[in-house]
Amino acid sequence: MWGRSYLSRTGSFRPENLGQNALAMIGNLCFTMFVIGVLIFTIIAATYEPEDPLFHPSTKITTFLTSTSNATFKSDNTVVRTGEDFMAANQTAFATFINITDVENITESAESGGGNTLEVTSCEGSMNSPIDCRDPEVFHMLMRATIERFKDIHFYRFGKPVRGSNDSTCDMAWRFRPTEGKTAAFYKDYRRFVISRSENCTLSVVGIGDYHTGMNARKRKKNQKPGFEKKPEKQDQKISLPVVGEVVNDTLPVVESESSFSRGKYLIYTGGGDRCKSMNHYLWSFLCALGEAQYLNRTLVMDLKICLSSIYSSSNQDEEGKDFRFYFDFEHLRESASVLDQDQFWLDWNKWQKRDGLGLNLVEDFRVTPMKLADVKDSLIMRKFGSVEPDNYWYRVCEGETESVVQRPWHLIWKSRRLMDIVSAIASRLNWDYDSVHIERGDKAKNRELWPNLAADTSPDTLLSTLRDKIEDGRNVYIATNEPKTSFFDPLKDKYSTHFLDEYKDLWDENSEWYSEMTKLNNGNPVEFDGYMRVSVDTEVFPEREKADRNFQ
Ligand SMILES: *[C@@H]1O[C@H](CO)[C@@H](O)[C@H](O)[C@H]1NC(C)=O
Ligand SMILES: *[C@@H]1O[C@H](CO)[C@@H](O)[C@H](O)[C@H]1NC(C)=O
Ligand SMILES: *[C@@H]1O[C@H](CO)[C@@H](O)[C@H](O)[C@H]1NC(C)=O
Ligand SMILES: *[C@@H]1O[C@H](CO)[C@@H](O)[C@H](O)[C@H]1NC(C)=O
Ligand SMILES: *[C@@H]1O[C@H](CO)[C@@H](O)[C@H](O)[C@H]1NC(C)=O
Ligand SMILES: *[C@@H]1O[C@H](CO)[C@@H](O)[C@H](O)[C@H]1NC(C)=O
Ligand SMILES: *[C@@H]1O[C@H](CO)[C@@H](O)[C@H](O)[C@H]1NC(C)=O
Repeated sequence: MWGRSYLSRTGSFRPENLGQNALAMIGNLCFTMFVIGVLIFTIIAATYEPEDPLFHPSTKITTFLTSTSNATFKSDNTVVRTGEDFMAANQTAFATFINITDVENITESAESGGGNTLEVTSCEGSMNSPIDCRDPEVFHMLMRATIERFKDIHFYRFGKPVRGSNDSTCDMAWRFRPTEGKTAAFYKDYRRFVISRSENCTLSVVGIGDYHTGMNARKRKKNQKPGFEKKPEKQDQKISLPVVGEVVNDTLPVVESESSFSRGKYLIYTGGGDRCKSMNHYLWSFLCALGEAQYLNRTLVMDLKICLSSIYSSSNQDEEGKDFRFYFDFEHLRESASVLDQDQFWLDWNKWQKRDGLGLNLVEDFRVTPMKLADVKDSLIMRKFGSVEPDNYWYRVCEGETESVVQRPWHLIWKSRRLMDIVSAIASRLNWDYDSVHIERGDKAKNRELWPNLAADTSPDTLLSTLRDKIEDGRNVYIATNEPKTSFFDPLKDKYSTHFLDEYKDLWDENSEWYSEMTKLNNGNPVEFDGYMRVSVDTEVFPEREKADRNFQ
């Protein structure tokens, strides 16, 4: 079952692919594609900003490009790869999942014989009494029912069931990973179980609710101290993994006292030409600042307000008023690095700077390297950037000799778990068992000069014939595309059950959890599900194994 895999933008979670070595596959990928000449999606260097610092194609891709100049491909450049994408998936391999036989073993006293029913010998005329969700036997029954129902995922932990909406329902949460996924993340689900009791008091699970229906089992994580004053990480930090579906608490860190503020050392970047640029540019610059702060053992004072570039906005205008937390996991950043929001910082600074004699060191030339600032004793180092591009880009600080000294801490940046939650809801509706195809069309297909073959290569007929050998008839196929009219892909419907992002609108519309959480985060103002979010989610639904092929830094 290798055939499907050489199509670089096709992947699947199917059991047949078990045991395949993703890296070996990627290694063979480009070559095979070239030989066979099945070119659907190409990467054309021209689509990158000439000096896009983020994309350093691997040698293989470069070779591939120069040898087939007519290829009509494009990479998903629009989405930033973040820390969790680079985590070796094998970091979780050591965790053993819960086998159904494990549950049986714990169930010493249950005489249920492995089914999803639970027999209680003494009925005590309790026919109509509520189900006791806390009963360990009920717990075991629910675990068994869950493991048997969801074959394509592995379970790592079950939470104790709690009462659901009424006397005959229980809610239970669990942590899982798709059997086939290459993500380093864990996922959390919690569902509502309907339990019935028969005449002889046998309990059985008669229904399991949809994804995230067991709201009562959704517990908050224990509060951790805010990230401020955290000692910069050591290299041998313990690996933390995202848990998608866990409650997010990304409130801003607060400074507890004057003395802790005045003892602190800070770094802030102000001004510059990075605003409203692409998200790649934003992160490349932000991570330079964060890298410098870590190198200097200082707290980074950051601006959480982001300007969304017109390339992602529905208005086609740059849009101010976005927030770092719309797109990235601030909770993770706050917990693993020392950061402070600038509004809070300036308040405290103005309060205490004079009284405590806090010094400020202003740096206006990006050529002053972090190494030269290592001995600065002032409380605050402020890098100020001018108005002339490109010398006013933050990332210029990390160029030259600094490059080998200051590392960009990619592992501190994860995608927003609220967005990832939408991704896992989609995957869950597809039972974690689907193929996906990434098709770039949109305006590019119309530009025949720049993309002479794109229209033809992504025409439904060509696609059908290309996919024919790789994806079995009748499969669920998720199509990630920038083609505005999904009816364009109607011909594929005869063979496959096709799915597009917009089919899942309810996950971000006004009644969704995402919407209400974002509104709360945004001080009561609704947040639009913008172009960058769309494309983040769309490309994430794609199985993870391809991502290792990107080579940053
Ligand atoms: C590129 O396209 C031109 C014109 O369509 C064709 O003559 C040429 O052989 C193609 N080159 C490759 C490498 O496919
Ligand atoms: C896990 O990945 C790392 C590289 O990221 C590699 O060095 C190591 O050998 C891998 N371990 C296993 C068990 O595959
Ligand atoms: C569960 O354990 C049994 C016996 O140890 C084993 O045969 C079976 O393959 C395991 N199931 C999975 C999904 O690993
Ligand atoms: C309890 O709730 C479940 C699902 O919400 C429903 O199917 C069931 O009929 C309810 N039971 C009672 C007794 O109301
Ligand atoms: C109890 O009733 C259920 C269904 O009504 C039946 O499947 C089960 O075998 C019965 N168990 C006993 C011990 O009678
Ligand atoms: C969120 O975390 C902060 C700091 O870690 C804590 O002070 C706050 O109480 C938490 N909020 C909620 C709602 O748990
Ligand atoms: C930062 O702290 C580490 C460990 O405490 C120390 O080794 C390093 O020299 C410090 N760096 C600077 C620039 O002060």
